[in-house]
Amino acid sequence: METIKLIHSQTRWLILLAGIVAIVMAMISYKKEYNKSENTASLVFMILCDIQLLIGLILFFNSPNGLEAWMSYGFDLVRVAPIRKIALEHVLLMLLAIMVVHVARSRVKRASTDKEKHRITLRNFILALILILAGIPWDRLKF
Ligand code: HEM
Repeated sequence: METIKLIHSQTRWLILLAGIVAIVMAMISYKKEYNKSENTASLVFMILCDIQLLIGLILFFNSPNGLEAWMSYGFDLVRVAPIRKIALEHVLLMLLAIMVVHVARSRVKRASTDKEKHRITLRNFILALILILAGIPWDRLKF
């Protein structure tokens, strides 16, 4: 489980990088057409988020800081800050962020103009990145 936690922890850098790249590419091509590389950058960001979701679910069902914490604390968990931060806030913020990324991709597919595609990508990905940054438990990490 320690190895899985380490992989989950380090994947955060790839996700942050992929999110920034996708945002920068949407900014650069804002006044141009929605091109293949912009779509690839956004797809990579979404795939990394989905991989992280899978690893996160494995952790949630096996780590003492996931479901097990819920089982032992019940709703009192909200009053124990360190456990609440990881077993509740972290999970909720990340699920929300991943949902925002998926909504962006499906809305971009349906958008009729390139300008709209850039705008949806920018708005949703910036929001997702803020949620991810807020949800990362920085205080319990050494690097
Ligand atoms: C973009 C998405 C995510 C990022 C960047 C992320 C990042 C992290 C980081 C940096 C840690 C701390 C690891 C450590 O203490 O060494 C962590 C822990 C954890 N994450 Fe995530 N996470 C994400 C999504 C999720 C999701 C969706 C779930 C659950 C469905 C989840 C469940 C957990 C759990 C249960 C832990 C605690 C593991 C433990 O202490 O044993 N994560 N996550």
